Amino acid sequence: MITIKSRREFAKMARAGAAVAAVLAAVRETALPGVSLVTLDEIGAKVIAERGCTASFLGYQGTYPATLCLSPNDVIVHGIPSEYKLREGDILSVDAGAIFEGFHGDAAFTVGIGQVTSDARRLMDTTEDALWAGLREVRKGGRLGDIGAAVHAIGEAHGYGVVEEYVGHGIGREMHEEPQVPNYGTPGKGLKLKTGMALCIEPMFNAGRRSTKVDGDGWTVRTDDGSLSAHWEHTVAITPDGPQVFTIGDQPVAVGFEEARAHR
Ligand code: MF3
Ligand code: CO
Repeated sequence: MITIKSRREFAKMARAGAAVAAVLAAVRETALPGVSLVTLDEIGAKVIAERGCTASFLGYQGTYPATLCLSPNDVIVHGIPSEYKLREGDILSVDAGAIFEGFHGDAAFTVGIGQVTSDARRLMDTTEDALWAGLREVRKGGRLGDIGAAVHAIGEAHGYGVVEEYVGHGIGREMHEEPQVPNYGTPGKGLKLKTGMALCIEPMFNAGRRSTKVDGDGWTVRTDDGSLSAHWEHTVAITPDGPQVFTIGDQPVAVGFEEARAHR
């Protein structure tokens, strides 16, 4: 079911989104060589609690064991925070979800640890560009296929593997609601977007091939060929005042205000 949210419900989602933005900002500051992934997870838990929120991921599907997903290097998504200590040159995808008064926010970014190669930098920047290309397609009367097509075109133009097995999603009282939001599509096709909808758009680009594999822990998703992967995500809502991104800072940001692009 696709849920339509009221202004009051969107206000709660915006609070959850602001908490997620604060988590990601805190992790970005702390993600330096020598810092362990469990340390970053603890920071995420602390910020979520300070904001009067609870963590969306902890206990998800009965088994997810942490607050954040922390996915280094060839891990695409759903990396479980471990004792691994970050090293100069790593890239790390950081995904956070929070609940405020029953409503979710969800966002992710990829950060370079110290100096990274120009190839790694290009992968991260291009994935962020693709997220924004997708966000710009979110409007009342637009189609789901417009979003996926815009995201995919950017990955393809750079020769990246665009992950297909994992997709964006609707969001509201549940973290994962209908519709699925794939990172591919046909312009003008698919679900018609309406006021009251909220979506998570989340491109995952691999430096190599698009195929994925899952570790024995049942969560960690890696590139099949061992290449680097980047992941960016925002929660965007079609509010009565137009499309707004909830996961950039303390307030919603109208789509189109690119100077608000967070956390470069
Ligand atoms: N944030 C992820 C998403 O965008 C979901 C995390 S999976 C979990 O869909 F197990 F960590 F919750
Ligand atoms: Co998501």
